[in-house]
Amino acid sequence: MASSVSYEVFIASLVLCLSSSPAPFANARASQLVRSVCKQTQDQFGYNYKPCVKSLWKDIPIRLATNLKDLDIAVLKLAAANAALTKATFEKAFNATSKNANGMSAIKQCVDSYDFALGAFVFVVRGVNDGDKSVMEILTQAQDELVRCQRALASVEVQLPMPISATKFCIMLNRDVAFLVTSQLLNV
Ligand SMILES: *[C@@H]1O[C@H](CO)[C@@H](O)[C@H](O)[C@H]1NC(C)=O
Repeated sequence: MASSVSYEVFIASLVLCLSSSPAPFANARASQLVRSVCKQTQDQFGYNYKPCVKSLWKDIPIRLATNLKDLDIAVLKLAAANAALTKATFEKAFNATSKNANGMSAIKQCVDSYDFALGAFVFVVRGVNDGDKSVMEILTQAQDELVRCQRALASVEVQLPMPISATKFCIMLNRDVAFLVTSQLLNV
C-alpha cells in the first residue's frame, strides 16, 4: 500500500458509526416522523429512502422523538457522536504514523475538519434550543468542512477501507437531515 497510514485504527472504530445506541427490535416499523423526514431528505438531497430510515431508526433517542425538535436534537447528537468518533479515528491514524508519510497532510486536514464539525453540531444543539437562526450557517460550514476532508483525501489518493464510506455516509446524512429539520423548525 502506498500510504502508511494505519488502516487498522480506522476499521476498529467504525462499528459504532451507524448507531450510537443500537436499539432492540431493530425491525419494528419506523415512526411516521422518521419516515416523513427521510422522504423529504430523499427529495431534497437525493438520498435513498431505505438507508436513511435504517440508519436513523437504530438510534434510541431518534426512536423516542415524537416531534421535530426532539428529532432534530437527537439527530444532531448522533452527528456529534459520529463526528467525535471519526475525529478520534483520524487522530489515532495521525498519531500512529510518521508525520512525513504520504497522505499525512490530508489526515491532518480531516482531524481539523471533524474537530470543527463536532464543535458545530454541539453548538447547533444549543442554538436549536434557543431558536437561534444562525445555526443554519453553522450547519453549512460543517458541510464545507466535511467536503474539505474528502477533497484532501482524494487529492493525495489516500485509500480508505470500505467501512469508512459508511462513516462518511452516516455523518453527511445526519448533517443533511439536521439541516432540513432545523430549517423547518426555525422557519428559515
Ligand atoms: C494524539 O496525540 C495528541 C498529542 O500527543 C494527544 O493529545 C491525543 O490524545 C492523541 N489522540 C489519540 C486519539 O490518540
